[in-house]
Amino acid sequence: MTLEDQIHKADVLIEALPYIQNFRGQTFLIKVGGSAMEEKSLVDSLLRDIVFLEAVGINPVLVHGGGKAINKAMKDAGLEAKFIAGLRVTDAATISIVEETLAGVINPELVHSIKVMGGRALGLAGTSVFQAQRMLAKDPATGEAHDVGFVGEVVDCNTEVVELAISGEVVPVVSPVAREIGTGHTLNVNADIAACALAKRLKADKLIFLSDVLGVMRDPKDNATLFPTLNTDFIGQLKREGIISGGMIPKVDSALDSLRGGVGKVHMIDGRIPHSLILEIFTDKGIGTEIVL
Ligand code: ARG
Repeated sequence: MTLEDQIHKADVLIEALPYIQNFRGQTFLIKVGGSAMEEKSLVDSLLRDIVFLEAVGINPVLVHGGGKAINKAMKDAGLEAKFIAGLRVTDAATISIVEETLAGVINPELVHSIKVMGGRALGLAGTSVFQAQRMLAKDPATGEAHDVGFVGEVVDCNTEVVELAISGEVVPVVSPVAREIGTGHTLNVNADIAACALAKRLKADKLIFLSDVLGVMRDPKDNATLFPTLNTDFIGQLKREGIISGGMIPKVDSALDSLRGGVGKVHMIDGRIPHSLILEIFTDKGIGTEIVL
């Protein structure tokens, strides 16, 4: 390594200094799904970033998806995964598989890895955090409502345990299931929506979505057209122009909803890029799309 390379390393740390100073004591809700959860090396790089955040005094809270492991467990059980309007059709057999896979495999693996990396983590079943009521899936084409079984929308969050973990410098790792109000049944919930609800309830300073896209782009096939920053007015304009369309609409809408609910900033970053979390938080330019009011 040349002396110049070494000095460059110091520059990188110095660029991070104002962010480390500002973000100390803040709560960042991080939602992970997609590739960042499926590929071992990406999971590890994300979890290392999270341990790093904790080490510099930030309070990361992790909400994870279920994804492929659930599809696989269902297949092994001879069940077929079906989705209507993005919601998993969840019958009694499916909800037990969802719960078992989240509580028995996905959640403990994340917790274990954080510990191996020298961090501290607490696995929490979403059922002890999220309260929900049943919801129907609305077909976007026909507008028709379908019963999708044990699927809920989060109505409230029980943040006591989460806050206790945060104050003890332990990273809460929360799974995307909820307790049905009234019946106590376990309901499957959309992890994005659960993350928004929890971020609002915690008044998180940041809500960060890691997914399989760079961020919001003018042309999804052209990385150079990424929007680094969006706000309410700009989002309105992009929707009218048809640039924000389809599956992006509910995502940006829930981002704006969480900002109005007291979340400081929303970020959409690419979980396929190793250390995208660190790059977004500790550099001036970031690497994805930040959304402000
Ligand atoms: N690191 C700063 C933050 O976390 C700025 C991030 C800028 N990101 C962007 N996509 N423009 O607030």
